[in-house]
Amino acid sequence: MLIHSASQLLTLAGGPQRGRDLGRLGLIEDGAVLVRGGRIEAVGPSAVLRAAYPHEETWDASGHVVMPGFVDPHTHLVWAGDRAQEFEWRTQGKTYQEIAAAGGGILATVRATRAASLEELLAQARQRAWTMLRHGTTTAEAKTGYGLEPATELRLLEAILALNAEGPLELIPTYLAAHDVPPEFRHDPQGYVDQICIEMLPEVRAWWQAHVPGRPLPFVDVFCERIAFDLAQSRQILERARALGFGLKIHADEFEALGGARLAAELGAVSADHLVKTPPEDIRALAASATVAVALPCTPFGLAQPEYTPARAILEAGGLLALASDLNPGTAWCESMPFVIALACRYLKLTPAEAIAAATINAAAAIGVADRLGSLEPGKQADLLVLEVADYRHLGYRFGTNPVKRVMKRGVWVVE
Ligand code: NIG
Ligand code: FE
Repeated sequence: MLIHSASQLLTLAGGPQRGRDLGRLGLIEDGAVLVRGGRIEAVGPSAVLRAAYPHEETWDASGHVVMPGFVDPHTHLVWAGDRAQEFEWRTQGKTYQEIAAAGGGILATVRATRAASLEELLAQARQRAWTMLRHGTTTAEAKTGYGLEPATELRLLEAILALNAEGPLELIPTYLAAHDVPPEFRHDPQGYVDQICIEMLPEVRAWWQAHVPGRPLPFVDVFCERIAFDLAQSRQILERARALGFGLKIHADEFEALGGARLAAELGAVSADHLVKTPPEDIRALAASATVAVALPCTPFGLAQPEYTPARAILEAGGLLALASDLNPGTAWCESMPFVIALACRYLKLTPAEAIAAATINAAAAIGVADRLGSLEPGKQADLLVLEVADYRHLGYRFGTNPVKRVMKRGVWVVE
């Protein structure tokens, strides 16, 4: 199929975009893209492609932006229940940390998730997956982390695999058993860290190799924060995971600077996420590494906190910056990357072009798939969006409504 006459075709070609280089859209006016067998075969001006492929089935995109599908590289997609009660408490002045200390927070969702069957988890996550697709996300990372015990963490991994197999949203899994200390280990957090290292990580690897042999292992992630795991515990878990062959991620500096970003750079993690309180020297360490800095502006917004990721400092230091939703029931129930972009343009001071690159090609880099996703280039998977608008800057500029008109996944219209 030849999609042609796009007012603006954004290719995002040329690989991940570092530092001040962020924002290269590869914009082609009156652009076209040829899709065959689920892949991009050619990209260029409409006149050129129409002449080169005269017999191809066509789709007229005039008046619309055509661009790669969004990649959302940090989500907690699979959980049971909701925390609307906690949200109401926060509007009345209680803090997230106070609610967590009183047994709410992550542990409230853990109770609901442990009680849910695989089918219930699938039904609830599936709805969110479709909402994400309708808002233009064609690939997302999805974390476990609401089980905090071997069997439930595996059930969450199973749910992620099942939803990915179902499609059309493609999911890249992350194992986040180190999301919080479970109630059983409340008086012995180090005991849980040891259990993760000695028992759970090897078990997950064996389970994975038995169930989906040949598929790359999930990433392993840690919530490195005073309310969860300290720097030494985070290092212990991530070093063990690395030794077992897992790729690494970290939740760092969301509420306090503990050194997680520096640790991620040192260990060669694929990404370090949140980075609200990251000090200048840790920004420099991150920027000098291959680790992608993932900003999650929905989280401070969701908590009504004034401080956001210092994105401009990360770019000035030459870092790789990506954007994600952090979709979760506590701080940021948001399935919309267009809304993430709108926040990033205001609170992270990104231009629309920078935010779009951070939500596509750089987001793909943050989950290790930039070689096949995140841009419209020959050979890449045909995951693309048609926007309602003719000018890409309406992404960021407008918010609260959905600018996505059509979504193609692997060469098939899945939202139209
Ligand atoms: O990113 N970092 C930890 N996880 C989420 C919160 C999860 C929850 O509250 O359920 C976050 O803010
Ligand atoms: Fe998170």
